[in-house]
Amino acid sequence: MNSSCPSPILCPVCREPLAPKDRMWGCENGHPFNIAKEGYLNLLLSHQRKSKTPGDDPEMVMARRRFFDSGAYDPLTEAIVQLPMIGRDKVSILDSGCGEGHLLGSLSEKQDGFFYGIDISKKAVQVASKRWKNAAWIVANGMRDIPIADASMDVILSILAPRNNQEFSRILKPDGTLIVGVPGPNHLMELRQQLQFSSGDFKEKADAAAEKCAPEFIETGREAIQTRATLNGEQISDLIRMTPIFWRSSDEAKEEIAKLDQLTVTISFTLLVMEKE
Ligand SMILES: C[S@@+](CC[C@H](N)C(=O)[O-])C[C@H]1O[C@@H](n2cnc3c(N)ncnc32)[C@H](O)[C@@H]1O
Ligand SMILES: [Zn+2]
Repeated sequence: MNSSCPSPILCPVCREPLAPKDRMWGCENGHPFNIAKEGYLNLLLSHQRKSKTPGDDPEMVMARRRFFDSGAYDPLTEAIVQLPMIGRDKVSILDSGCGEGHLLGSLSEKQDGFFYGIDISKKAVQVASKRWKNAAWIVANGMRDIPIADASMDVILSILAPRNNQEFSRILKPDGTLIVGVPGPNHLMELRQQLQFSSGDFKEKADAAAEKCAPEFIETGREAIQTRATLNGEQISDLIRMTPIFWRSSDEAKEEIAKLDQLTVTISFTLLVMEKE
């Protein structure tokens, strides 16, 4: 946690600003929050979660970590890094549903700025904060009251994660930008074919996502990322483990695919650039 930046982080109990105090964070009403040994803050209150371990489970988190580390999703990271509203000095960015932190972590290494990652999965936030020290990592529910101040962020990233348009609109500065990342046409088509999913799974998700961002946001730009990658056996099993495909596949289909030592897949994402209405 970089405690030298002005903090837009709010106390989840009373919504007053939180600031570092001794080896903890606290608000003016005396609500204390420990800094975990990895450096993150846990601001998820027990009534803000439906289970004891919400969000991606540790196996999914580590599969996603290995898959990103393998470089297969580099085109997604690079496309985000190159967006003009991101590559500016001193930009403040919230990544809501940041997962194991690859996107925000990469940005925090490349440029000066203020970086905040929230995820409801403690394991995801733990591994993010262990690796990337130039960002603030917070366990929080992005679908409830997000513990980030009004009009404090230049950019919000919501990449393959649940969206909370009202909260995103509150947190963004008036001229801020929401970047929504969704699977693009034919994303992982070959994997889905192997698992005998129906063609309905190939539907373009961007139009529906853009519509769902109304009335708070309007789309001002769209970028397609399309590439193909030949995955090895470990990448294939990590990819299945880290996506909902895992839960929707039969054991037989998973056994069949586990025998593959290579598969060429389409990797396709759509980035929506959204501004406040
Ligand atoms: C498919 S992963 C994407 C992670 C990351 N954005 C990426 O692109 O690698 C979705 C993430 O959303 C998180 N998530 C799910 N529900 C959430 C919620 N209500 N609040 C915050 N994060 C949530 C999950 O724990 C998971 O890490
Ligand atoms: Zn408080």
